[in-house]
Amino acid sequence: MRIVLGVGGGIAAYKVASLLRLFTEAGHHVTVIPTEAATRFVGTATWEALSGNPVSNSVFDDVHQVNHVRLGHEADLVVIAPATADLLAKAATGQAGDLLTNTLLMAHGPVLFAPAMHTEMWQHPATRANVETLRARGAAVLEPASGRLTGSDSGPGRLPEPDAIFDAAMALVHGQTDFQLPLAGKTVTISAGGTREPLDPVRFLGNRSSGKQGVALAVAARNAGATVRLLAAHMEVPPPPGVEVVNVETALQLREAALAAAADSDVVIMSAAVADFRPAEISDTKIKKRDDTADPVITLVRNPDILQELVERRNQGVTGPATDGQLIVGFAAETGDQHGDVRAYAEAKLQRKGCDLLVVNHVGSDKVFGKDTNSVVILARSGSEPQEASGTKADVSAAIISRIGFELNQVSPRA
Ligand code: C5P
Repeated sequence: MRIVLGVGGGIAAYKVASLLRLFTEAGHHVTVIPTEAATRFVGTATWEALSGNPVSNSVFDDVHQVNHVRLGHEADLVVIAPATADLLAKAATGQAGDLLTNTLLMAHGPVLFAPAMHTEMWQHPATRANVETLRARGAAVLEPASGRLTGSDSGPGRLPEPDAIFDAAMALVHGQTDFQLPLAGKTVTISAGGTREPLDPVRFLGNRSSGKQGVALAVAARNAGATVRLLAAHMEVPPPPGVEVVNVETALQLREAALAAAADSDVVIMSAAVADFRPAEISDTKIKKRDDTADPVITLVRNPDILQELVERRNQGVTGPATDGQLIVGFAAETGDQHGDVRAYAEAKLQRKGCDLLVVNHVGSDKVFGKDTNSVVILARSGSEPQEASGTKADVSAAIISRIGFELNQVSPRA
């Protein structure tokens, strides 16, 4: 496929180098057209090297080839990223001052704008009107992602992740025109990894959770346009870029972080393996081997069930007005035994915990923990059909996040 990648003059232009890579690695022929301002952020040499094609932003280069006509007509797809407020305005009013805006006027194929700007600029009535004009003319304009912006501000205005723009571009080419990032404008809190419950300064009780599923969920939610807060217990993998990370160690710390984060979250996903018990006492000093032969005894006490508490608070409206309509997702790692199978245990857990969705893993000695693949069933309290998902933890996460997007758009069955 022939793609014209128009790059606007915003700091997010540097991220578009990754988008270009995704296009070229998928076998597409890409011509990059940066605006004059874009070349002040990322130089022409970068675009030429990564695309393997010459790069210009002037209608006066190679005039004999009438580039804007050729590029516009030949393009199967035009992607503008970052689409700055200035570029959206120029496109909406049909201005033609450089090669990119000329090419846009000549484009026959689908056009995708991936905006990035400060929140006030995005929300300004002038920008809103320009976006509406472009959409009314059939162009696809993505909602920007929410989160940290260039300065100290945060809010809607971040360039969607390159993966997300790539997916949207492919969807557009395949005729899907009504798409938006399913979690745009939403705040999603995800707990990941395994808690560690200290016995003394050296030892702890832990579990085998690697955090891979939680991190994959964070990536999928981020790519779906959400502002993501990752409550990271012990993890064997690093947190992904583009998400806010709160590090916790114990179940009690996770509880505190989860209750605080839930106050302004549209979705809470408890994928962490939370220790059900903790040592009743934590020794200030290392517990020594004793001279006598007595075996030490560790007394355990129950940890609070965070998931259940989140649901109770949500149902009682304690967490705050922002949680009206909050969606809460639990995980269940089940093995089944002589008293019941995995599904029966999971159904009972869904009712007991009261969460909206329960993602059920069948765990065994060689399954799930630390692995890169997973196979789950998503149970819904609304009683809708259980949904199966399997593949890499990224595939499974994409299915879970898309189900969450679907549930958020349904009328709440909780009332
Ligand atoms: O009861 P069980 O541990 O199997 O439930 C698993 C689900 O409950 C997971 O979503 C886990 O994150 C959550 N959980 C919790 N607090 C606990 C134990 C589990 O939030 N103390």
